[in-house]
This record gives sequence, structure tokens and C-alpha cells, in this order.
Amino acid sequence: MNEGPIGVFDSGYGGLTILDAIRRHMPKYDYVYFGDNARAPYGTRSFEVVYQYTLEAVEKLFALGCPLVILGCNTASAKALRTIQQHYLPEHAPNNRVLGVIRPTAEVVGTITRNGHIGVLATEGTIKSESYNMEILKLFPNSKVTGLACPMWVPLVENGEYDKPSADYFVQERINTLLQTDPLIDTIILGCTHYPLLMEKIRKFCPSNISILTQGQYIAHSLKNYLLRHPEMECRIKNGATCRYFTSESPERFSGNASLFLNEQIEVERL
Ligand code: DGL
Repeated sequence: MNEGPIGVFDSGYGGLTILDAIRRHMPKYDYVYFGDNARAPYGTRSFEVVYQYTLEAVEKLFALGCPLVILGCNTASAKALRTIQQHYLPEHAPNNRVLGVIRPTAEVVGTITRNGHIGVLATEGTIKSESYNMEILKLFPNSKVTGLACPMWVPLVENGEYDKPSADYFVQERINTLLQTDPLIDTIILGCTHYPLLMEKIRKFCPSNISILTQGQYIAHSLKNYLLRHPEMECRIKNGATCRYFTSESPERFSGNASLFLNEQIEVERL
């Protein structure tokens, strides 16, 4: 079988935080990133629409030669991953694999919390899907999981307002609401790939005894582990240490905004 890159998909820029961590961890592989910026955000869209858009993105990445695709987007992982794995792959691409970001995050949170009280901050779609609650409770049945949607946080990041004083209100209000719902929370999952950019403000408004979990490093660890356990997939990943970036919107706009997420200048192509 031909070798190809690892595909990383997000509705827009957020998955770059996942790609960045994966590449730091495993720089030897080839990567392709696709951001569906023309149709972002996904966070408020219906199950059917997120599934359809995510499937189209996965098919594009398969067509670019990726044998393995990571849905570096919580909303897509919550609403589309299972159906793609159970219904699409067996019939249309039985040798390829698609992995998400929720299960690896759930696996790790139970080892970080001290009292089992976990908060999840994410998009409306991810929270409504209850994916985090289900995955965490499957692994750690004694946990108490409280989810809260933060609809203003993605626009704050996308519009470059994440480090401005104007973002304070929206961050503080959501943190306070979460901690009022369960004052015992000792660990908060940032269950949206955009949110690490708001980290400084999140820390400012969170009591210092609360652990705040960002996903990148854990997804990277989990992927490395997956490739160790699946040599039949690992040998299909090309070792060229390259990375290509694609967007469904303007490549100029993407490369400009991507610098918020990556510390390098990148060339971007339209897909
Ligand atoms: N990247 C998406 C996620 O992680 C959030 C952005 C969106 O709403 O499309 O959930």
C-alpha cells in the first residue's frame, strides 16, 4: 500500500493547536492540515450538518493520500466520529482510520482529578452531544461531570480579541457559572481546540487549585501510542517531516490568522 501523510482536520484554526503538539512529539512524519474555514464555526450546527461536513473533509484528506485522519475538532469528534467509524469506513475505506480527540482526553482526566469533580467547557454542539459525560463515566464511573457551553469564546479567538480586556467579561462569567453549578470542581477540560488561546484569562479567573487541561499533548501521546500498537498503520505513514496546509476559504487569510496558533509563517493552499 502507498505511504501517505497523517491528516488533521478542524472546522477552522483550532485544530492547529492539536497539529502543533503532534508535530512536536512526532516530527518525522508527513502531515496535511485541512481547515474548513468557509463553513466554520461548526459549534452551533446540527448533528446531520456536522456529520456531512466532517465526512466531506475526511474524504478530501483520504484523496490527498492520508491513511489516517485525526479529527482535531471536538465538535466533529462528538457528532461525526462514531458514525464515520462504524458506518462509513467499513464500506468505503476499510484500510483507513479516523480518530478523534474526546476519548484520549477522557482517558487522561481521571488521572488528574483528585476528587472526581470535572468541568467541561466546550461548544454548544459538544456539550449537547454529552460525549464527554459518556466517555468519562464509562472509564471513571464515580466522577461527576458538569458541562457548560461557551458560545462567545470561539468568536473571541477567531476575531483576535482573546488577549484584549474586552474578553475578560466573557471568560469570567463562564468560569463563575461553571463553578456555581459545581463548587467542588477541581479539574476543567478545555474541550474546544480554540480555547487554549484564552488560557491566560482562564487562569486569571479560576482559583489556583483547579487544574486546567488542554488537549494537545495528550492527543499527541495517545496518537504515538496508537501507532506503536498498530505497526500496520505506522508503516503506511510517510517519514518526510513535511506539513502542508489547506483551507476551504482564502489561503491568505488563513496564513495570517494561523500565526496566532503557530509560531511560524506557513504557506497555505485552497482545497
Ligand atoms: N474547533 C471546534 C471544536 O474544537 C470549535 C470551533 C467551531 O465551533 O467550529 O469544538
